[in-house]
Amino acid sequence: LKKHIGKNFSLNNTGKRKKNDFYETPYSMTKQFLLLNLFDRRKTIVEPAAGNGAISGELYPYGFGNVVSYDLYKDEIDFLTDKEKYPQMITNPPYSLAKEFILHAKEIITEKFALLLPLSYLHGKERYDVIWTDKVFPLSEIYVFTRYPLLGEPLRDDGKYETGMQVYAWYVWDKKCSHPPIIKWIDNDEYVLRGQKKHPSRHT
Ligand SMILES: C[S@@+](CC[C@H](N)C(=O)[O-])C[C@H]1O[C@@H](n2cnc3c(N)ncnc32)[C@H](O)[C@@H]1O
Repeated sequence: LKKHIGKNFSLNNTGKRKKNDFYETPYSMTKQFLLLNLFDRRKTIVEPAAGNGAISGELYPYGFGNVVSYDLYKDEIDFLTDKEKYPQMITNPPYSLAKEFILHAKEIITEKFALLLPLSYLHGKERYDVIWTDKVFPLSEIYVFTRYPLLGEPLRDDGKYETGMQVYAWYVWDKKCSHPPIIKWIDNDEYVLRGQKKHPSRHT
């Protein structure tokens, strides 16, 4: 079993596994979020569902010196049974295990963590009861992307992406937070690919 710690974790590309909820995060979605400076770059940050490293590979260029990165299907490490404590975490989790990831993060993350999730994840009675009303490790902020990104496509080096059908947001949990969650926006307009419209509106 190996966790990729420090600067030498490898990012090999072994193809797609959508069946394992493998949807890579476009580089710019991580970059725009990291530029908000919500994390402490001097402290360890874990990416525990790293896939091909789309998020963890962005952490060094943005100044994080201590990155721990692993994925169940590459490294045979299951985040849900990882008992190690980390001060901070960032990931785009497998959607089907989002609740389990949130609850487990609250056990092993000591300060702050962020997950990329559809905005619609905010609703639902069970989530309300077990996640949103928790005051011990509360949701502190939500950063909503102004335009819909399409996840699951091959990543482009320039961080751009097609538009999809789903609103995405970075959700931030902060153990020290004492206020109700705050909504903010990330304007991703410049990263949306502008193709030729197949059926231009008669009104444009
Ligand atoms: C939505 S993908 C995101 C991958 C990467 N974080 C990114 O943003 O490109 C979710 C990843 O979670 C991994 N995964 C699923 N269950 C896991 C678990 N229990 N522990 C660790 N990784 C897991 C999958 O292999 C997949 O690569």
